[in-house]
Amino acid sequence: MTMDYNFDEIIDRTHTNCIKYDGRQKFFGNANVMPLWVADMDFKTPDFIVDAVRQRAEHPVYGYTFRPESYSNAIVSWLKRRHDWSVKPEWISFSPGVVAGLTLAIKAFSDEGDGVIVQTPVYNPFFDAVKGTNRRMVENPLKLVDGRYTFDLEDLRGKIDARTRLLLLCNPQNPGGMVWTPDELLGLADICLQNKILIISDEIHSDLIYPGNKHTPMASLSEAIAANTVTCMAPSKTFNMAGLTTSFLVIPNKRHLVRYERELHVPHLHMGNLFGTVALEAAYNNGADWVDQLMIYLRDSFNELQKFVAQKMPKVKVMKPEGTYLIWLDFSAYGLNDDELNQRLIEYGVGLNRGIQFGKQGSGYMRLNMGCPRSVLMEALERIEKALGGL
Ligand SMILES: Cc1ncc(COP(=O)(O)O)c(C=O)c1O
Repeated sequence: MTMDYNFDEIIDRTHTNCIKYDGRQKFFGNANVMPLWVADMDFKTPDFIVDAVRQRAEHPVYGYTFRPESYSNAIVSWLKRRHDWSVKPEWISFSPGVVAGLTLAIKAFSDEGDGVIVQTPVYNPFFDAVKGTNRRMVENPLKLVDGRYTFDLEDLRGKIDARTRLLLLCNPQNPGGMVWTPDELLGLADICLQNKILIISDEIHSDLIYPGNKHTPMASLSEAIAANTVTCMAPSKTFNMAGLTTSFLVIPNKRHLVRYERELHVPHLHMGNLFGTVALEAAYNNGADWVDQLMIYLRDSFNELQKFVAQKMPKVKVMKPEGTYLIWLDFSAYGLNDDELNQRLIEYGVGLNRGIQFGKQGSGYMRLNMGCPRSVLMEALERIEKALGGL
């Protein structure tokens, strides 16, 4: 594939109020670490999106707007082309961010005190979404098999009770990078159908899939599963536009859609963001080549990372991602506790996410975001090697 986009370009993001750079002092107590943490990328949001936003910005009235038919059609077409998933425009609803969508869905489809299944280690706002809505977290840890996580269905069966109402699925998985297979998903969906547990499937990373892997939307597996699944998606990770807070849900079950939209409409969250609407449409109508090239760049970066680790710090175990730009690194062989590990990396100038934040199974791990130019990644790896030197 010819590469038309330059992912090696270094863009100065400082002084834009971006969390990743301008939030370093607050998060790490150090404003100078190389920030390979919060999940956005250091690449330019592609020109076909910037141009569409700029064009709309030139009309000087930014009043209330609605999302036009062309917006839903862009989603329908993208899901068909990229994931071979046939979705009807009337199944699509809105949320101002995926976490907002899944939190509203928890409120719409369960009551206080009900059980919500969470498969750890996982993206930690899932915990807040469950606890903050006064639901009960039912923890179903993932199982490590040959260096890859998979579902522990036996553990899950043993934990379900009459008040277990929802399962929060992360597909692809953050932080492990698994792209769940149809068989894995079917096993999980069967248990949910048997026990009347609604699946809320966070598929925000579904476009970030490495060559040789394929994302399967949970709801694409059968009509019965589709009727029992609420899917949360967004162009935000894919095209690096999280600041536009524009996400969508696919809810084929009419009854569920009506209930979700009741939660959404009361606080007027359905209004959305004018620029996000324009950006989503531009992204999905024009973005296929850009994403394909991005994933080749990230795959090559991962290969370099893997080579570096094997040669220079072989005690670190690297989980091979099938999707996402997030790398799950196991540092437990060094015998440091989580604070010591984090502090040591900060001291040597690297800011990663602590594994423990994703659940107790993440102790000894760190999550590295490699959505950055390769030269930046390699320098960060050299700093990590120095931090671990002599241990
Ligand atoms: C699995 C997952 N869900 C949701 C989000 C955040 O989505 P949003 O910013 O749209 O709320 C992230 C960001 O890292 C994520 O990894």
